[in-house]
Amino acid sequence: MESQAYLSELFSLEGRVALVTGGSSGIGKGIAEALARAGASVVVVARREAELAATVVELTEQGCRAAWVAGDLGTREGVRAAADEAAEVFGEPDVLVNSAGINLRPPMGKTGDDVWDATMAVNLEAPYLLGQRFGPGMAERGFGRIIHVTSQQAHRAFVQSGVYGVSKGALESLTRSQAEAWSPHGVTCNALVPGFVLTPLNERLSSDPERVAALAARTMIGRNGVAEDFAGAAVFLASRASSYVTGQSVFVDGGFHVH
Ligand SMILES: NC(=O)c1ccc[n+]([C@@H]2O[C@H](COP(=O)([O-])OP(=O)(O)OC[C@H]3O[C@@H](n4cnc5c(N)ncnc54)[C@H](OP(=O)(O)O)[C@@H]3O)[C@@H](O)[C@H]2O)c1
Repeated sequence: MESQAYLSELFSLEGRVALVTGGSSGIGKGIAEALARAGASVVVVARREAELAATVVELTEQGCRAAWVAGDLGTREGVRAAADEAAEVFGEPDVLVNSAGINLRPPMGKTGDDVWDATMAVNLEAPYLLGQRFGPGMAERGFGRIIHVTSQQAHRAFVQSGVYGVSKGALESLTRSQAEAWSPHGVTCNALVPGFVLTPLNERLSSDPERVAALAARTMIGRNGVAEDFAGAAVFLASRASSYVTGQSVFVDGGFHVH
C-alpha cells in the first residue's frame, strides 16, 4: 500500500480540473479519458455535440467526473465563450490540454488565405487565447499545467505539411514562451508530439494499408500510434510528478522522429 500512496502523491489528479479541447475524438479523447481516470474532473470542448455527449457518457460510465461544452475554437469569440462556459462547470482549470486541430492539406501552391486563416485560428490562436485566459489564474494559484498537442510536422516536412506544419512549429514556440512566462509560478507548459496516429484526422491516409504499413516501418516500435498511447505521458505532464519539466517537446511517436 505504501507504493500506492507514493504513486498517488506523484501522479494522482484527484481534485484537479482539466479542460481538454478536441476531447471528443482521437488523441484528445484518449487524453481526456486518461486525466479523468487519474482523478481529474474533465470538461471536453469541441463543435459536434453528439460526439461530445457520447464521450461524456463513456467517461461517466467509468465512474469519472466529466462534462462537455460545445464551441467553435476557430473564432476568437468562440474560444472566449467556450472558455468561460467550461470554467463554470467545475471551476477554473488546473490543467489545459489543447488537442483540437485541423489539417486541411492542400499543397503549398494551392493554399489560399482561407486555409491559412482557418489553420492558424484553430491550431495556434486558440491555444494562445486559452493560455491568456487561464495561465495568469494558474500562476496566481501557484499550480498549473498547459499541454499542447503539436506534431512531428513542427520538425520536418511530411506529406504536404503546408501551413499545418507552420502552425505546429509556432505552437512549439508558444509552448516555450508560455513556459518562460509562468513556470516560476508553478505553471509548466509542454508539448506532446505525435508521429502518425490512427484517428479520424488522417482517415484518408490511414485507409491505405500500404501507406499505413510503410509509416509503421518508419517507427522503431514497428507500429503506428493509437490514442491510448498518449495516456501515460499526459497524466505525467498533468501531475505533480512533472513539476521540473517545462518548455519541452515530448515525442510520443514510437521512435518515428529519431529513426
Ligand atoms: N492523428 C495524427 O496522426 C496526428 C499527428 C500529429 C499531430 N496530431 C494532432 O493531434 C491533435 C488531435 O488530432 P486527432 O488526430 O486526434 O484528430 P481528430 O480525431 O480529428 O480530433 C480533432 C478534435 O478537434 C476538434 N476540433 C476541430 N476543429 C475544431 C474547432 N474549430 N473548434 C473546436 N473543436 C475543434 C474535433 O471536434 P469537432 O470536429 O466536433 O469540432 C475533434 O474533437 C491535433 O492537434 C492534431 O494536429 C495528430
